[in-house]
Amino acid sequence: MVIASVRGIVKRYGDRVALDHVDLDIAEGEIVGLLGPNGAGKTTFIHCLTGLIRYDSGDIKVFGRAQRQHLLEIKRDIGLVTQEIAIFQDLTARENLQFFGGIYGLRGADLTRRIDETLELVGLTEYAGQLPVKYSGGMKRRLNIACALLHEPKFLIMDEPTVGIDPQSRYNILENARALNRQGTTLLYATHYMEEAQAIASQVVIMDRANVIAQGTVDELVKSVQSQETIRLEVAYPGDDLLERLRNLDGVTRVTQTGNQIQVASRVGADNLDSVLTLARESGGLQSVTTVQPTLEDVFLDLTGRTLRDQREN
Ligand SMILES: Nc1ncnc2c1ncn2[C@@H]1O[C@H](COP(=O)(O)OP(=O)(O)O)[C@@H](O)[C@H]1O
Ligand SMILES: [Mg+2]
Repeated sequence: MVIASVRGIVKRYGDRVALDHVDLDIAEGEIVGLLGPNGAGKTTFIHCLTGLIRYDSGDIKVFGRAQRQHLLEIKRDIGLVTQEIAIFQDLTARENLQFFGGIYGLRGADLTRRIDETLELVGLTEYAGQLPVKYSGGMKRRLNIACALLHEPKFLIMDEPTVGIDPQSRYNILENARALNRQGTTLLYATHYMEEAQAIASQVVIMDRANVIAQGTVDELVKSVQSQETIRLEVAYPGDDLLERLRNLDGVTRVTQTGNQIQVASRVGADNLDSVLTLARESGGLQSVTTVQPTLEDVFLDLTGRTLRDQREN
């Protein structure tokens, strides 16, 4: 079953097009990783999908129902963890959960049971009586996630939930996402970390500059760039001269350098390993060599000519 189906969504902020005819289907039971650099349009997409902002044109159906007409019913089955953490600083964790549970119509024993369960899930049981001001960033985020889970949503949407938090919280969040998914929750998980998308997503949707530019399983996406083979060299002298000579070899499509590491990408079948190694030995002082499996980073690079990392908004 399709949980959400989005067709031709356009969203403009003044002159800026933030979503340019975006189509996307989210199937039940998936973890869909929405991957893209900052400014790609991920948050805008999520806000349109959940009815937080209006879009200019296009159609959205969630749980088979037209989103504009049935927004209230739809929201009952959605859990949304927004990019900015939304909790009350002057209420304890438990009081925050009581407030958000009340919004979803939970009362009495049911509410108490769900509060205890979600506190346990996010590992905050022993801090339930504290004000979030005393929490680390990761604990605030986990409380924020608990608030979105109280009503046991079928469809959980998380917008960059691990940005700027400690590794332990990050691990807790990713593990919980997986566990919820195993119990049947469908997830949409927005991130600009390709490692996270690669680790967690059963389907990856890559966004860039207001468009969906690719989608598929990690395997499918990575296979699409196997027109490239990458060799990683570690050399003592990674000089410009060596880089230049590598770039001039037959079949080489890209040479990049970070410190003593040089990555040489070639067309498949270029059969130039010997020449690459000879050059590296002669003028670089070759220390080690590995062949590199492509990652989602390579998929993005292949499609856009840019890297996912270190991007500024355009
Ligand atoms: N409220 C807003 N007003 C004007 N421009 C916005 C607003 N929100 C987002 N944008 C712009 O829309 C584009 C997409 O932003 P966003 O959806 O936040 O991307 P992402 O979540 O992928 O980082 C960016 O260029 C951003 O500057
Ligand atoms: Mg965002």
